[in-house]
Amino acid sequence: MAIIFNEKARTITLQTKNTSYQMKIGNLDYLLHLYYGPAIPDEDMNYQVMQYDRGFSGNPYESRNARTFSLDAQPQEFSTQQQGDFRTASIEVVNSDGSYSYHGKAVDYRIREGKYQLEQLPCVFACEADTAHTLEVTLCDAVSNIKVILLYGVFEEADVITRAVKVVNGGDRPIHLKKIMSVCLDFLNGADMDLLSLPGRYGQERQVERQPMTHHIHTISSVRGSSSHQQNPFVVLCDREASEDYGRCYGFSLMYSGNFLAEAELDQYDQLRLVMGIHPKQFFYELKPQEAFEGPEVVMAFSSHGFTGLSHLYHDFYRTNLCRSKFVTEVQRPVLINSWEAAFMDFDDVKLVEIARAAKNMGVDLLVMDDGWFGKRDDDNSGLGDWFVNEDKIKCGLHRLVEQINDLGMKFGIWFEPEMVSEDSDLYRAHPDWAMQIPGRHAVRSRNQMALDMSRREVQDYLIERINAILDDANIFYVKWDINRSLADIWSNDLPAEKQGEVYHRYILGLYRVMDAIILTHPDILFEGCSGGGGRYDPAMLHYYPQYWVSDNNNPIDRLKLHYGTSFVYPTCTMGAHISDSGRFVPLETKAVVAMCGTFGYELDATHLSKKEQKICKEQSDRFRKYYHITFKGDFYRLTNPFRMGNMTAWEHVTKDKSEALLSVVVTNLTCNGPQEYVRAKGLDPQALYSVNGSKELRSGSALMNAGLPVSREVPEYSAFQFHLVKKEKSHSKAHKATKKE
Ligand code: GLA
Repeated sequence: MAIIFNEKARTITLQTKNTSYQMKIGNLDYLLHLYYGPAIPDEDMNYQVMQYDRGFSGNPYESRNARTFSLDAQPQEFSTQQQGDFRTASIEVVNSDGSYSYHGKAVDYRIREGKYQLEQLPCVFACEADTAHTLEVTLCDAVSNIKVILLYGVFEEADVITRAVKVVNGGDRPIHLKKIMSVCLDFLNGADMDLLSLPGRYGQERQVERQPMTHHIHTISSVRGSSSHQQNPFVVLCDREASEDYGRCYGFSLMYSGNFLAEAELDQYDQLRLVMGIHPKQFFYELKPQEAFEGPEVVMAFSSHGFTGLSHLYHDFYRTNLCRSKFVTEVQRPVLINSWEAAFMDFDDVKLVEIARAAKNMGVDLLVMDDGWFGKRDDDNSGLGDWFVNEDKIKCGLHRLVEQINDLGMKFGIWFEPEMVSEDSDLYRAHPDWAMQIPGRHAVRSRNQMALDMSRREVQDYLIERINAILDDANIFYVKWDINRSLADIWSNDLPAEKQGEVYHRYILGLYRVMDAIILTHPDILFEGCSGGGGRYDPAMLHYYPQYWVSDNNNPIDRLKLHYGTSFVYPTCTMGAHISDSGRFVPLETKAVVAMCGTFGYELDATHLSKKEQKICKEQSDRFRKYYHITFKGDFYRLTNPFRMGNMTAWEHVTKDKSEALLSVVVTNLTCNGPQEYVRAKGLDPQALYSVNGSKELRSGSALMNAGLPVSREVPEYSAFQFHLVKKEKSHSKAHKATKKE
């Protein structure tokens, strides 16, 4: 059993293959956190927790004269409010009498087989191969009767533990939630830990930053209405010495696409608290008697083998337990060509067919018609919301256009930006109140567009009806779902003044409802997410889309950092990566090698390529397909860090059985008369012999990993190499044969 309740010690231990997590119903029934880390037997870890009389740290009234029990110094499973714990809280609730207290004590626990589900929010699921269990612990405040239900999902083989939270108003008058965190994790000593996060900006998403914990609250958050380009809902707490292959790393990945908050607080006693959940900014959520609120899920993983070990846990888990699309495992992803950087909005049906015809010679499977096909949309100032085909541009109609593409033996894809509306659109003229704007004030414009009020049922229903109508009208194989601004003017015309603090979250719930009704009802369509590039690249989105556009920045040298940072948590098979005209001095081959780190495709005017160039692209597309089983299903290794000054960036995919690997290198800096570079592989079988790019001369896995392969210096700048390693035999058997001959 992956969850053990030890009646004598009153501990609850969650066991996965390599980790243990323990909590205890402790003094006065407070739920204390005792341990998370490498697997330990079922023993009471309470001996770790020391109690002293700490000045200026309050003691619960019931502890009478015992000044040594202070929640300010105890590790807790869910830090609460006004109980003498002055660290950051997991909950801030305004009780019906206006007070701000919450004294949650453990009153019940349940253990069951299978993984819990959330009602309105996406979450991970258990597959047939998984042993998954659920723990529910109920905390209750005896005065207000507000219940907090802590949910834990334990995935034994995957080494993953999920957490989520529900609040139920058991009182008889309304209450308001101001802050509700999905996870709280207290480390008894965190002085030597670092916090790693993935900050960025438009065009440079998910760069990697690492900061030592100091005595304040380190905050990673987004208040842009979306998980954002600027931060990502993923953080790692790790040993100060942790590196790719070494050290303890704890990962926290939040399944939510709106405002989020992660706080890591190193307290006065060097204890470290991590909380993560919906951001409290403009969050004021009413719960009437018996109403419940559910917070999003956090997926936690622990590795004692550095960042690579942690990434592998997330990659494996997110490849199988996050998205139900058949394109995750069953159906191979197509090579696509996208019209955006080829034509922007200046195209018609004839131009699209021309691009497709040229792309066919490049081995492309799918033509994607990007922005500009609907309403009045010749530039980005109008038309959003009018999801009707513009037959001035698509003169033959959508149905016929798709037929023409299909006749070429290719598939067809289409672009939408469902959540947005242009002021200059029929939709806005008919329903100005559907756009988010505060009465009596002008709305903030961004790309000259406004956000629809996704919290409104009519808006959701309009989008579901319109988009499904387009998808059902023609043979659509692929959809790119975009969102191109952050939210401001948070207001819903549909809600009374006192409920405006619910709009940010209701927007996200409305969005998920629309996605459920469009994406889950079209299981044969491949969906790709996008937000001005990779602005909403989070696990909740990856629950719906098997792939996500990494960035509008297609420069292959910038992409090295983008792919590196993104890969800390998201598998490379989710990373939308194309070859485009961006990066003029970078060879086409290098662009292909970089795009093969992701889903691979083209984003250029194929009609401008010479026959020779098209032939080269055909070979690249074929190569992408040839290596698909390695790059989409294998283990990914970051071999170098592109943020450090070095002469090359290298990465590697290795099949699970170590029989094949694809090692990729981009020479980023050729210093005059500089040193010889070697790239060292990882994850191979050290005893086995491998051929390198089909060479008869075999090299042992051990040599390839310890001595490495020399990277030629006699190459033009920004050259790239791919080394395809294929296991041929065990090295000792070769040695044996050699001896026999003699
Ligand atoms: C965003 C996307 C681009 C493209 C444009 C269209 O910027 O990231 O790929 O689809 O919108 O307007």
